[in-house]
Amino acid sequence: MSVPPSEASASPPEASGTLDELVAQLIPDRLPRHIALIMDGNGRWARLRSQPRIAGHHQGHLTVRRVVELCRDLGVEMVTLYAFSSENWSRPDDEVEGLMSLIEGVARLETPGLHEDDVRLRILGRMHELPDSLQDELNRGMELTRSNTGLALNLAVNYSGRAEIVDAVRKIVSDGIDSSLVDESTISDALYTAGLPDPDLLIRTAGEMRVSNFLLWQIAYAELYVTETLWPDFSKEEMCRALLSYQKRVRRFGGVVSP
Ligand code: FPP
Repeated sequence: MSVPPSEASASPPEASGTLDELVAQLIPDRLPRHIALIMDGNGRWARLRSQPRIAGHHQGHLTVRRVVELCRDLGVEMVTLYAFSSENWSRPDDEVEGLMSLIEGVARLETPGLHEDDVRLRILGRMHELPDSLQDELNRGMELTRSNTGLALNLAVNYSGRAEIVDAVRKIVSDGIDSSLVDESTISDALYTAGLPDPDLLIRTAGEMRVSNFLLWQIAYAELYVTETLWPDFSKEEMCRALLSYQKRVRRFGGVVSP
């Protein structure tokens, strides 16, 4: 059976132009409210340069800055970054230690500027399993920025989507909620993201076509954008291309599109 051209799945051509030209093409009132990002490819970026993997993570910090700056300037409501998954503990000790101290250093360095820019920081994940000094730094950042009303920036650290659902079920049980009263909102309200909007757009760099245990419940209806670009090379221009691609999508939420 042939597919009518309007239904064909071939991707539309990628938008091109300078950053200003790409930003000008965006429709401000159709931006995603919440963008989630799987920042993959730091190790490959470092290997291509014969550098240790941690060098790629350090370079990845600069991409985080760019992405946060662009989202803040565009007026995006919320960004969630997958900084360290619960599975990442299985990496070599020196990489795990390097990542812990990088995240702590980034939090120490960036929090005052984030606060000045009215950004609110939240951490998603089992924080109590992190080194004490990292917990202290992250808690300080959350406390300092608690009342900010600009961009909401969530860092997923020691995060696993399945563990989050396990923690939610434990909370519901320990709160003594009767099983007949449990519905989707009971579960949403017990997740680390209680009260926050679900992601509209999930971006993954470095080409893998999987969701890697990230925000499993929350991405039920998220639009996906996967790019081959490695996270350290991900630019503001490419972020705009992801947003332009999102703005071309027709979101159905399981329903049909009206003719
Ligand atoms: C995945 O790339 C990336 C990570 C496990 C860490 C992400 C961390 C940063 C970008 C550091 C700074 C960020 C913050 C928010 C403090 P990979 O190592 O799996 O890459 P590979 O697949 O090429 O090996």
